[in-house]
Order: sequence, then C-alpha cells, then structure tokens
Amino acid sequence: MEKPKFKTVQEVIASGEGLPERYLHTPTGDIESQPLDAPVPEMDIPAIDLILLLSPSDNGRQELSKLHSALSTWGVVQQVMNHGMTEAFLEKIYELTKQFFALPTEEKQKYAREIGSIQGYGNDMILSDDQVLDWIDRLYLTTYPEDQRKLHFWPEIPAGFRETLHEYTMKQQVVIKQFFKGMARSLELDENCFLDMYGENAMMDTRFNLYPPCPRPDKVIGVKPHADGSAFTLLLPDKDVEGLQFLKDGKWYKAPIVPDTILINVGDQIEIMSNGIYKSPVHRVVTNREKERISVATFCVPGADQEIHPVEALVTETRPRLYKTVKKYVELYFEYYQQGRRPIEAAL
Ligand code: SIN
Ligand code: FE2
Repeated sequence: MEKPKFKTVQEVIASGEGLPERYLHTPTGDIESQPLDAPVPEMDIPAIDLILLLSPSDNGRQELSKLHSALSTWGVVQQVMNHGMTEAFLEKIYELTKQFFALPTEEKQKYAREIGSIQGYGNDMILSDDQVLDWIDRLYLTTYPEDQRKLHFWPEIPAGFRETLHEYTMKQQVVIKQFFKGMARSLELDENCFLDMYGENAMMDTRFNLYPPCPRPDKVIGVKPHADGSAFTLLLPDKDVEGLQFLKDGKWYKAPIVPDTILINVGDQIEIMSNGIYKSPVHRVVTNREKERISVATFCVPGADQEIHPVEALVTETRPRLYKTVKKYVELYFEYYQQGRRPIEAAL
C-alpha cells in the first residue's frame, strides 16, 4: 500500500531539521492578522444534564431552555453531565491515546493512512500543494456501524485499545440518542424527528489527535478554523492543556478546561436540520510551546442515503427555509473545503 509522503509532526520534531516553512502562517494570511497565540477570553456556557433534558419536570424544561440558548448562540455545550461514563473510563481513553502516540514510529506506521484514504494514522490531510499544514498527528477510525470498521487500522498496541474504543463507541451511542432527543425537545419538536433523519445507518468516526509542543505558537496552528461536517461532534478535550477556541461575533474565545466531561458542538448537518436555529460554530486549535495536547473527537454522521433538510415545523413565514435538501453532505463538505469555500454553502 502506498504510504503518505509527508512526515508526521512527531517525525519532523525527531528529525531535528527545524520548523518547515509549510507550517508557517504569514501574519497577513487568510487565518488572522493577530498572532495565533494572542490571549483570548474564556467562553461562558452552562453545563447541561443529559438526563434532565428528557425529564418532563420543571427542571427538565429549564434544562431545555439552557440547551436552546447555548446551541442557538455558541453552538456548543462544553460540560455534558450524566453521560454515563465514569472518570476512570474517560481516563483510560486519554491514557491509551497518549500511549499510542508515544509508540515508536515503526509501530505507528503499521496503521498509516493510505493515499486517498482518511482512515488510519498520519499527519494533517494534504489537499493541495500550497496548503499550510496543521501542527497535528492523528489516528482516524470509523467505529460504527461495526461492519464499516477497517480493523487493520485499529492499533493492537497499546493493549486494550481496540476493546476500549469499542466500549466507548457503544457508550457514546447512548449519549448521541439522548442528545438528539434533547435537541428536538428544546425546539418543541417530536423527540425523534432529528434521530429519524440521522437514520438507522448513521456512522461514527473517531479521531484521536496529538498536538506536540510547538516552537512557534504565534505562527503555527493546531487545526485551522473550520466548522464540522457532522450532525454534531462529541469531544474529549485535553484535561490539562487548553487550545480549543470558538468564534463568536468575529471574536475568538477559549473553551475552559473541565475535567472528565464531554464537549458537544453542533455540526453543519444539525444547522441544516434546525433551519439555522442551531449554529455549527467555527472553531480552531492553537498550539502550545511547552506542552503536548491530546483530544478525541467523534463525528456523528447521518447515513449516506439519508435526505437531510430543515425540519418542516421550523420553516415558518418569519423564518423561511434556509437550506435545501442534501445527501452525502460530508462528500460535499470536503469538495467545498478543498476549493477554499464555506462547506455549508453546498446546502444553500
Ligand atoms: C477539531 O475540532 O478538529 C479538534 C478539536 C480539538 O482538538 O479540541
Ligand atoms: Fe472540529
């Protein structure tokens, strides 16, 4: 199988060749005119209790209105409570991720992405020759449905990685269903209406991210600004090292560190289904000079044959239909992204 021709960030560092030009953003570039490591304020978003979202009590109604306000402004809930996973279990996921990236290069290369494929281990996806690269190494795996798994990309070392990822996938399934129902309820819709559009054949992809310490956090970015192409994304951000930032009204805000919780951000497909009421936020990851950062993102993607469109009840005289019906949005997403266009324009 043909292997990617670029080094991972860890290999760049180990080679001692210094910082390659390909990672440097010029101050007048398309990213920001400010240094990337300029201090930014913290975002302030309430915690959301998943169980309460589905309760008919007064507290439940309050929780739904908190969810509505967070998703219609920021498009993010940064502290999901009652997600059904113990601290020890989340700790194990972080630990295994750390251990995987700490393996010798030859061991990790066994799982290397093949050219043209997104699954597997490697550096930033290279879509064009003049692309400035992100300071990130990643392991990308489809986890659901089970028959879509490409197990030759699933690490056998560290021991327990595969089993834990399987267990994590099953536990996330519960959270995903609850969250879809909660979102629908918060918009006064039938609680299954988003889930029905998501489909029985929905997919989950999990991306393990490593951001090694970076010598130039002012000019090098971990992940460029983007909105996700998923319905929504479940994220385990690093428990100690900041880096994730969200754009709101033209300004960047950092997601604070909240240990042992999940952050959920809306992706383009919920923005479409909710007729633009819930926002798919632009976010980025900045780098850190001293510390490595780890995160684990799971993208929840509707089945390929599902028709994604604004829910009828959310199209009104005062709120006309904003998006058309799309299928296989993730393919459109990458097509538009590659052309430097805003992917959600594919649904306009
Ligand atoms: C991403 O949004 O692509 C990564 C998020 C993170 O590492 O926190
Ligand atoms: Fe993202």
